[in-house]
Amino acid sequence: MSVSFFSVFVSALYLFCSAQSVAVNGGRSEIFQSQSTCKATANWPGWSGIKYAFVFGDSYTQTGFNRTGTQPTPTNPLGNPTYPGYTASNGPNWVDYLTVEYNASTLLTYNLAYGGATIDSNLVAPYLPTVSSVSDQIQNEWVPTYASKPSSAPWASDNTIFTIFDGINDVGNSWSKGEPATTTLNAQIFSVFDGLVETLYTSGARNFAFINVPPVDRAPLTLAQSASNQAMEKADITAWNTGLLDLAENLKSNHSDVNIFTVDANALFTKVLDNPASYPQTALYKNTTAYCAAYEK
Ligand SMILES: *[C@@H]1O[C@H](CO)[C@@H](O)[C@H](O)[C@H]1NC(C)=O
Ligand SMILES: *[C@@H]1O[C@H](CO)[C@@H](O)[C@H](O)[C@H]1NC(C)=O
Ligand SMILES: *[C@@H]1O[C@H](CO)[C@@H](O)[C@H](O)[C@H]1NC(C)=O
Ligand SMILES: *[C@@H]1O[C@H](CO)[C@@H](O)[C@H](O)[C@H]1NC(C)=O
Repeated sequence: MSVSFFSVFVSALYLFCSAQSVAVNGGRSEIFQSQSTCKATANWPGWSGIKYAFVFGDSYTQTGFNRTGTQPTPTNPLGNPTYPGYTASNGPNWVDYLTVEYNASTLLTYNLAYGGATIDSNLVAPYLPTVSSVSDQIQNEWVPTYASKPSSAPWASDNTIFTIFDGINDVGNSWSKGEPATTTLNAQIFSVFDGLVETLYTSGARNFAFINVPPVDRAPLTLAQSASNQAMEKADITAWNTGLLDLAENLKSNHSDVNIFTVDANALFTKVLDNPASYPQTALYKNTTAYCAAYEK
């Protein structure tokens, strides 16, 4: 698709203040700027001060970047492969737009997201064993390659954002276990997730954006199932998204020097599915209830 669904994210970022979140005003020049009721810490330079983005996630986020290949530079801000990269949307995705269109600086983006990723492949098996989980992306790729602030990516705490958009496959591959089981599983997953964020923090990460799980229960694949299955998946998505807010809250109370943006993709997708004209970026969508062949290559 020619316009990424995710470009609407930039108009709906939330900055977390302890237990409270406050909407950030939506104009494209105002993205990532906090409002007075929610004061950012000194680590937040304003969106125009952000020079590096480290990005983790799954196919909604993947651009096919490989950390062993060509690194991002001002004239090639996503590094490899050639823009827009290998995306699930058959065109630029939210990471591409954020980097080259909704940027307010020369933003270099290191996107380690991998299609099919779960937080931890040992807890929720991905569709293929070769999938790089968020745990792999952070511990096996980001830490050895970028944690040391190498000359190829001389990032600092106060000019860098870390984004994590995951949970779609964790929920997708486990909701059918039913609620008692997924409650236990989600607690295990979020415990690993906490540890991964702590790893980033220990290496100097101070600005985070966490993106929640969209209403996948409204995808054609789920709509083809029974009403009780749809309800089960929806309940697990709600539980995940509650867990993500808890993570944000706990992170802020553990480390008061962090700035956390929580992005409610679920609410945004819901709005667009209900009415594509909700945002100019999505107004051209043709069909929000069924598979759309026009989006194929
Ligand atoms: C990156 O490229 C190397 C060398 O081609 C390859 O071995 C590795 O699997 C790739 N990593 C990812 C995450 O695709
Ligand atoms: C945004 O990124 C593009 C592509 O790298 C760059 O040409 C443009 O100057 C950047 N915008 C700002 C405000 O720096
Ligand atoms: C916050 O600290 C507690 C106690 O050390 C720890 O169990 C928890 O995982 C931490 N949470 C986050 C999100 O860092
Ligand atoms: C979307 O596509 C489905 C399947 O082709 C069709 O039944 C439905 O009417 C379409 N909806 C719109 C709004 O075009």
